[in-house]
Amino acid sequence: TSDKTSIDVPSTPPSMILTQDELKRIAAYKAVDFVKSGMVLGLGTGSTAKHAVARIGELLRQGKLSNIVGIPTSTKTQEQALSVGIPLSDLDAHPVIDLSIDGADEVDPCLNLVKGRGGSLLREKMIEGASKKFVVIVDESKMVKHIGGSKLALPVEIVPFCWKFTAEKLREVMEGYGCVAKLRLGENGEAFVTDNGNYIVDMYLEKDMGDLRVVSDEILRLPGVVEHGMFLDMASTVIIAGELGVKIKNK
Ligand code: 5RP
Repeated sequence: TSDKTSIDVPSTPPSMILTQDELKRIAAYKAVDFVKSGMVLGLGTGSTAKHAVARIGELLRQGKLSNIVGIPTSTKTQEQALSVGIPLSDLDAHPVIDLSIDGADEVDPCLNLVKGRGGSLLREKMIEGASKKFVVIVDESKMVKHIGGSKLALPVEIVPFCWKFTAEKLREVMEGYGCVAKLRLGENGEAFVTDNGNYIVDMYLEKDMGDLRVVSDEILRLPGVVEHGMFLDMASTVIIAGELGVKIKNK
């Protein structure tokens, strides 16, 4: 391993196969080790981040942590955090966050991320971008060579006004990468609506994007686009839980 990577020996016997959810929990608990009393914390969204939120609540109840302020990245996380007893605030009151902990859909070797399968990418980017330290928690299935490849879509949050127009412009910008742009639908079969009242277009790409900064700028330049799910150069640390143990990668 490089000097920036460390590996923990697993505490489970090698014969025991862990479920993906157990791996997510292991990564989340490891991230909560970074939390200290008195911190302002960005609280992520998703099936991995929810383990971190639950753990922070548990440590508060046990008196092992105190004076924590949580800044939730979604209404769902807000509900969970309140239910486990984490005092909450927002970015207006706390423009600088000590530490954010969140999951990701894809992580590349340079620790660039794709986020937003859970639909919370805008608030996540605002809150995690305002954090002194951003710890990403994933199971090993999230590690990829290139983000935004064919495996998963790249989500883009757009305004509902004339969304077809914006989706088509997005498709044109991304045409060179073999893009199919699809409006994300909710469980009711209608357009999925984000916490900010916007829609999401999922962009399925056949080819790697090459220079991610260039693609990012091209997407953000389109009127109607609010934000995309590429989190470039934002993660300070990625905690990866796998069958062979926990790997910690620092930027
Ligand atoms: C939500 C996100 C999530 O962090 C991401 O989708 C990972 O989710 P999960 O931990 O459930 O796999 O970006 O917008």
